[in-house]
Amino acid sequence: MFDINNILRQNIKNLTPYSSARDEYQGEASVFLDANENAFGSPLDQQFNRYPDPLQFEVKKRLSEIKGVPPRNIFIGNGSDEAIDILFRSFCNPAVDNVILIPPTYGMYEVSANINDIKIKRVPLTEEYQLNLEGIAEAIDEHTKLIFICSPNNPTGNSMNRDDVETLLANFDGIVVVDEAYINFSRQKTFIQELTEYANLVVLQTLSKAWGLAGLRVGMAFASEEIIEVMNKVKPPYNVNEASQQLALKALQNIDQVNSWIKEILIQRDKLVLELKDYDFVLDIYPSDANFILVKTTESKAIYNFLVQNGIIVRDRSKVELCEGCLRVTVGTPEENITLLQTLKGFK
Ligand SMILES: Cc1ncc(COP(=O)(O)O)c(C=O)c1O
Repeated sequence: MFDINNILRQNIKNLTPYSSARDEYQGEASVFLDANENAFGSPLDQQFNRYPDPLQFEVKKRLSEIKGVPPRNIFIGNGSDEAIDILFRSFCNPAVDNVILIPPTYGMYEVSANINDIKIKRVPLTEEYQLNLEGIAEAIDEHTKLIFICSPNNPTGNSMNRDDVETLLANFDGIVVVDEAYINFSRQKTFIQELTEYANLVVLQTLSKAWGLAGLRVGMAFASEEIIEVMNKVKPPYNVNEASQQLALKALQNIDQVNSWIKEILIQRDKLVLELKDYDFVLDIYPSDANFILVKTTESKAIYNFLVQNGIIVRDRSKVELCEGCLRVTVGTPEENITLLQTLKGFK
């Protein structure tokens, strides 16, 4: 049975979080002399002289409407990368605990584990790019605190079998993190709706992909109230800056624009797949539920270099386990995709 008290680090359990000026006073006032800000203003058109809302209330309220989750079940980070780091810092004891990672997958889980001195147990995806449930069950020990599942997965692009993820959620006594950075492009349903079912579920999402706001650094974690409380306790007090909060809030009003981009990106993705299939050096293109495709080629390094020489950058994933010969290509605008395809005609 999952019990947060069994996996929370003792020092975090005992932690008295930083209490900011904004935490200590809430309400209406006209004179704020409590946070050592510059009361005269900022040398910008817009005023940024005040610290931002530490708990990003307005953004959470809007996210809550869109996602159908109460604000108390939402954490907002400086990108979902911050949420990943906070999960390690909250639940994993350095040099003692371990995390299960499922390569090939998003590289920051490993970097974040290494920064926090958390042992990594790797259970690679199967040849079909699905979870190896038996391997994961064997790898779990008393010090396993987190399992990261990326679905749709970066860099393979496919979604994990939903029943397999639920099997883990039902049987693992630690936290299962389902990273849904690419969920808006997927045919699969989000796991957010399972939050009421599983107390050990954390769903990560981000405004960096479909929402087109990678530069703002706004990522979300959705989880039980008790997990969110821990994450809020551990995060830096003002982790999401005022400009990002304001702009995220504005962008979140424009859901129609985002939905029409998603449609267009999916059309472009299918076109790209169809066209690329005809190139001699393309051996395979894996089915994608994301805004990128993983392309298996005869000579990835040479193709990568050729594209670089022509001013086009894709991601060479050929050194990654189970991705030999593979390039990861993000779906661009129609013009960018045509440029890519035309350029590739000149290869060899
Ligand atoms: C699977 C996955 N999760 C998280 C992130 C990071 O997202 P953010 O920009 O919110 O930190 C990425 C970025 O590439 C990603 O591919």
